[in-house]
Amino acid sequence: MALSEVLVDELRDMYSAENQLVKALPKLAQGAISKELKSLFTQHLDETKGQVDRLKQVFEILGEKPTGEHCNGMEGVIEEGADALEKDEDGASFDSGLVGAALRTEHYEIAGYTATIEMAKVLGLSDVAGLLTENLNEELTAAKKILGAAQSILKESASQPKAEKQPKTGKEKYSDQKSKEDEKKAAPDLKRRVS
Ligand SMILES: [Fe+2]
Repeated sequence: MALSEVLVDELRDMYSAENQLVKALPKLAQGAISKELKSLFTQHLDETKGQVDRLKQVFEILGEKPTGEHCNGMEGVIEEGADALEKDEDGASFDSGLVGAALRTEHYEIAGYTATIEMAKVLGLSDVAGLLTENLNEELTAAKKILGAAQSILKESASQPKAEKQPKTGKEKYSDQKSKEDEKKAAPDLKRRVS
């Protein structure tokens, strides 16, 4: 497989990821309690639509179709965000969960663009690299703004009292069980750690 083919695969992943975010960001915007966070998510939704357009331009330059890969990674990251939206918390604590979820989506995309930009550069595709860099810069700025808005949210959240323990939902029980399995599976390898 040539690097140009790896690049097309990765870009199709990014295209799917951005399209998934077009559907997920309005839910984060609707769920956010902080007005600032709400407006940041709405603003980034608009940017994300522009990013989809830029990716379409990239595929035009490459003479390839944009569909063909579903991004499982972004699906998982968005699923984490959906969990945060389901949390029975109020105010700043609820928003703190959304900040974590939103930053995960941004950094997932930052990784994707960073890799594809380098591939495009190696292949001498400077116009492709240019368009991808525009998307990357928007993701970096969005992550910075979310982190900026997070400061007051996290501080407020830190002063909130601890929640009373609630019985676990079916989904939480499943997640708890899976996390124990993760730990168990890793245990033999962790023992072999060279110090
Ligand atoms: Fe994006």
